[in-house]
Amino acid sequence: THVVTSNCLNCKFTDCVLVCPVDCFYETETQLVIDPDECIDCSACVAECPVEAIFAEDELPESEEATLEQNAALAIELKDSGQEPITDQKDPLPTAEARKAELGF
Ligand code: F3S
Repeated sequence: THVVTSNCLNCKFTDCVLVCPVDCFYETETQLVIDPDECIDCSACVAECPVEAIFAEDELPESEEATLEQNAALAIELKDSGQEPITDQKDPLPTAEARKAELGF
């Protein structure tokens, strides 16, 4: 699977959802997550994220290892709550530009 890491937190630029061929992104208030049961590892989303938040599972930085389980757990929770995958881009969070600068992008 691919994984949304902490750079997405407080950004949610949502460019990623536009290129996903299997609609596997789900949304929390502060970030997106990828449903590992749906992701086909096409990698299309990786290049779309302006803050480089998305990694292939086997390329996850060590500091982001916890996000693998976190994405999986949140995806299940969000689907169970009846949420549909996010497939349309929306405005980034109000904190996104400041966070992006802070991250050095
Ligand atoms: Fe998050 Fe990047 Fe997508 S900031 S919503 S992973 S484009």
